[in-house]
Amino acid sequence: MCGIIGYVGDKEAVPILMDGLKRLEYRGYDSAGIVVIDACGEVRMMKREGKLKVLEDGLAEHGLRGTLGLGHTRWATHGSPSEVNAHPHFSSDGEIAVVHNGIIENFLELRAELEGKGHTFASETDTEVIVRLVEEALKGGAPDLEAAVRASLRKLKGQYAVGLLRRKEPDKIVAARLDSPLIVGLGDGENYIASDVPAILNRTRKVIYLENEEIAVVTADGCRVTDIEGNETVREVKEITWDIDAAEKGGYEKFMLKEIHEQPQAVSKTIMGRISTDGKEILMGDLNVTPEEIRGLRKIFIISCGTAFYASNIGRYLLEHYTNIAVEVDFSSEFRYRNPKLSKQTLVMTVTQSGETADTIASLRMAKEKGCKVISVVNVVGSTIDRESDGVIYTRAGPEIGVASTKAYTAQLAALFLFTLWVGRMRGEIDDGRFRELVDELQRIPAKVERVLEKERHIRSVAEKYYRATNAFFLGRGFNFPNAMEGALKLKEISYMHAEGYAAGEMKHGPIALIDEHFPVVCICTGANKYDKMLSNIKEVQARKGRIIAIATEGDDRVKDIADDVIYVPETVEPLSPLINVVPLQLFAYYIALERGCDIDKPRNLAKSVTVE
Ligand code: F6R
Repeated sequence: MCGIIGYVGDKEAVPILMDGLKRLEYRGYDSAGIVVIDACGEVRMMKREGKLKVLEDGLAEHGLRGTLGLGHTRWATHGSPSEVNAHPHFSSDGEIAVVHNGIIENFLELRAELEGKGHTFASETDTEVIVRLVEEALKGGAPDLEAAVRASLRKLKGQYAVGLLRRKEPDKIVAARLDSPLIVGLGDGENYIASDVPAILNRTRKVIYLENEEIAVVTADGCRVTDIEGNETVREVKEITWDIDAAEKGGYEKFMLKEIHEQPQAVSKTIMGRISTDGKEILMGDLNVTPEEIRGLRKIFIISCGTAFYASNIGRYLLEHYTNIAVEVDFSSEFRYRNPKLSKQTLVMTVTQSGETADTIASLRMAKEKGCKVISVVNVVGSTIDRESDGVIYTRAGPEIGVASTKAYTAQLAALFLFTLWVGRMRGEIDDGRFRELVDELQRIPAKVERVLEKERHIRSVAEKYYRATNAFFLGRGFNFPNAMEGALKLKEISYMHAEGYAAGEMKHGPIALIDEHFPVVCICTGANKYDKMLSNIKEVQARKGRIIAIATEGDDRVKDIADDVIYVPETVEPLSPLINVVPLQLFAYYIALERGCDIDKPRNLAKSVTVE
């Protein structure tokens, strides 16, 4: 997501801020900005769309000087990537500046409230409301920036890491966080704030990790941390021992592993703000389709490639399960050359992390030419598919750097689940009670994913048993059949082990001929509905001496007798189980690839974004 750096000391801030932003570049961004308090005590800023080089050129031309400042790289979530949406954002008098990482869930309400008080907003961002709330708090009698920030934070729902400065208090940065990371770096007569260790690792290794709802007042001489009530808290100063490469990966060995671990946040951010406060509706923003169009829908085509294609297939199962609409899924590279029967009662959806996949763009254009509305599930705001779709559901997984998609996939599944509930409600096909149960369970998924991640050591030990195999099968049924294909894709793309995903019931129609005592078969057997059928399929493999690795629900003892290895996962409703079950598959693939010495983040022959046909 966005990158933050702040500096207060006796040196020129701009080179330090620019250097910090460059060190955060690996996270991805679409625009950047810097703000300082200059020698005359004025607040001065510069922001630019595009790469840091553009900002750097602007700074070289116009110059900004000062010994206290904030810098920011933005990864768009609310509002397109543009100069006006880039951070910092300002109070109406331009005297207070904020940089922010995260999502303010209730920003539309806050914005309306502030507009009622006469505020006009320069940008489309959720961030701007933060600084306007601070401004209002000061007008309302808050004695200083710290008190005004404290009062404003109480009004925010969502996630944030913020840094603020104020012309009238030119010696301090006020910083705070809730569910988005923020650290304070301690130097000698100079101090920093940053969203991530790499931003400041070349300047200091002494770091305070702020906890949720803590506020830090950072000056050149020190840092005072308080909780939201204003009580002083004592935070341990940690010495960072990682090198820069490890720091960029948050201490993880590879980006892919970091991103696997980011899935609870990716899912919760995708859900955030999309369930109404009374819990009765799904809020989808402006999808540009009318309730009448949704009610009149005969067919949905979901179009995508690779991992997004498997997410789309689960989307099909979801829509078919909860609504009466016929759903077809196709690879973008096929759809665009077919002659699909599209009409006004057909909705086309694309699912894409990058929003730049050439075949998916071509399919979208073809569908639009034939008069269909196109809604897309997209991770990269401002991408071609984002711009060209009639409506968009953003997955808020943040930049995905590892070539193999992980957190974008689980975020896509969450978005497709929300979309299904939205459609089902609009068509009167999901009643109140069912809806409430599903929404509650969806909100429990991030914590359940967290519990699977705690099993990493066991999953690694299983992977270490099988890494020498040359082939593997992944079997699932129903919602977990596409998930099995995704598990196989993860394994083949990063470990180069040949792997196939199959619908478990298909095994006896041919593939079972391959099974022998050297053949690992990963079986997803969590679904209560088809549990017995799945067990029979596993027994067929067992009878051919295949090595069975079962993904099973905690408490399931039956499977232990048949499987060579069992990875237990928390129970959930079957339609949501792919979000949980895919995590052991990703870790299994990861550790097999690690044992095989593969270049996990950049597998051979693959590119992160396939922008050519
Ligand atoms: C596999 C993977 C690819 C992408 C596919 C589509 O791990 O990442 O299969 O899912 O190339 O890319 P997007 O989602 O960017 O359209």
